[in-house]
Amino acid sequence: MTVSKICCIGAGYVGGPTCSVIALQCPHIKVTVVDISAHRIDQWNSEKLPIYEPGLDDIVKKQRNVNLFFSTKIEEAIDEADLIFISVNTPTKTFGVGKGRAADLTYVENCARTIAQVSTSDKIVVEKSTVPVRAAESILKILSANHKPKVKFQVLSNPEFLSEGVAVENLLNADRVLIGHEETADGLLAFKELSNIYLNWIPEKKILRTNTWSSELTKLAANAFLAQRISSINSMSVICEVTGADVSEVAKGIGLDSRIGSKFLQASVGFGGSCFQKDLLNLVYICECLNIPQVAAYWQQVLDMNVYQKSRFSNKIIESLFNTVTGKKITMFGFAFKKDTGDTRESPAIHVAKTLLDEGAQLNIYDPKVEPEQIVKDLTHPYVTDNPEKVIKSIEIHDNPYTASHHTHAIVICTEWDIFMELDYEKIYSNMVKPAFIFDGRKILDHDKLTTIGFQVHTIGKR
Ligand code: UDX
Ligand code: UDX
Ligand code: ADP
Repeated sequence: MTVSKICCIGAGYVGGPTCSVIALQCPHIKVTVVDISAHRIDQWNSEKLPIYEPGLDDIVKKQRNVNLFFSTKIEEAIDEADLIFISVNTPTKTFGVGKGRAADLTYVENCARTIAQVSTSDKIVVEKSTVPVRAAESILKILSANHKPKVKFQVLSNPEFLSEGVAVENLLNADRVLIGHEETADGLLAFKELSNIYLNWIPEKKILRTNTWSSELTKLAANAFLAQRISSINSMSVICEVTGADVSEVAKGIGLDSRIGSKFLQASVGFGGSCFQKDLLNLVYICECLNIPQVAAYWQQVLDMNVYQKSRFSNKIIESLFNTVTGKKITMFGFAFKKDTGDTRESPAIHVAKTLLDEGAQLNIYDPKVEPEQIVKDLTHPYVTDNPEKVIKSIEIHDNPYTASHHTHAIVICTEWDIFMELDYEKIYSNMVKPAFIFDGRKILDHDKLTTIGFQVHTIGKR
């Protein structure tokens, strides 16, 4: 078999960009991305894509309806494909055994059942969603128990390591492509088919072959290590704030050790995003199930430190504003979990907003890419409030940072958008209530300059 048709189930943050880049790099392959959400698919077929990623619009416009298709005809696309990516969401379970920790594999399982039901020819099924270790085995069991006569399946694990905001760049110049396969001759053949696709643009030395379970665990481990670095530097930021050391100087000093390296040492209000918390919770849960509580406790601490960091920052705002924010107007600059994305999943901004709203503050929120409806949805979620009407009355969403800061007591920076570094802070200061405060949760502003203007400046990891 040589793969000429690919189907990707799940048109989200992973499936959409990944398949757009495959279509760009493999003009000889027809790539069809399917989703159960007709609205999602309509958006992928429209002028305004459902997700914002630098560089993605151009690729989609170039390949769409050439060799890249977005469709709701899931069964048709599965049956005609030689290779199927499963890129559906695997959220944390919200009920039942493992509630709040284990990964919910319902969507992955549904995909496996559909693939088994509709396939009339052999398929390579590739798990791209982050899944618990040994999930490929479950997928294979479902496929094997439900398939049509004479149809054969191979399951590969090929986790995606892209980060949002730089997804296209990450996909075009991946550090590595990891492919785990069953240790059989057919497993090796399936590996070769998938690696042939990547070889169209990824150098062979960057394609890593492992067994299926190593591949699954590597994805969880990579996210756990990255998150651990952020919690480690954030823990140092706490020490800095009470001793007079400066966490940026410490981070620089640590990062120059080539054994440590300089990336992912930016102290912040805390990490967010759809992956780190979910994958850490999943890892902790797996360790508990394997009866290794010592390892579970080690990784749980990375999460606990993140909650502590978000709370510390939120509490600092309240303390600095004379221990009360009731009725005070506060500006939030940024709502996305990081810059260059409109994604708000697990954004630390939600935690900060919740704390301030609970204390009775009025919030003016500005983010360059997050849709206003998303902000309302996040802040009226039952996890955040039991009084959504009150929240709606307490927030104003602005499309401009200057109006957002007009007549407010403080500006809180939650996302490191470049535009926040370029604003006219003298103009902003002149229109704020005095004393005017800035809480820089991302350490992106020139604090000396702001102090000279007259601002009371507070940040992370510096007294
Ligand atoms: C360490 C620091 O590396 C050095 O920068 C500092 O100045 C002093 O402390 P040292 O203790 O001499 O140096 O040796 P190091 O190479 O860091 O090893 C420390 C221990 O970690 C050893 O027992 C080593 O075997 C172990 N180790 C190291 C591992 O188990 N795994 C590794 O990947 C690396
Ligand atoms: C992450 C992994 O990086 C990626 O490999 C994996 O495929 C998915 O999860 P993502 O969540 O998209 O990607 O973004 P990332 O850049 O890792 O940032 C995650 C969070 O950590 C953000 O809230 C970011 O602001 C924060 N962060 C990152 C820090 O606070 N400090 C840092 O030094 C780096
Ligand atoms: P990720 O960040 O992992 O890509 P998203 O939530 O952005 O997650 O995307 C996952 C997509 O998968 C959603 O658009 C969802 O509608 C889709 N999806 C979930 N289950 C199925 C299924 N059984 N068939 C097709 N699409 C599905």
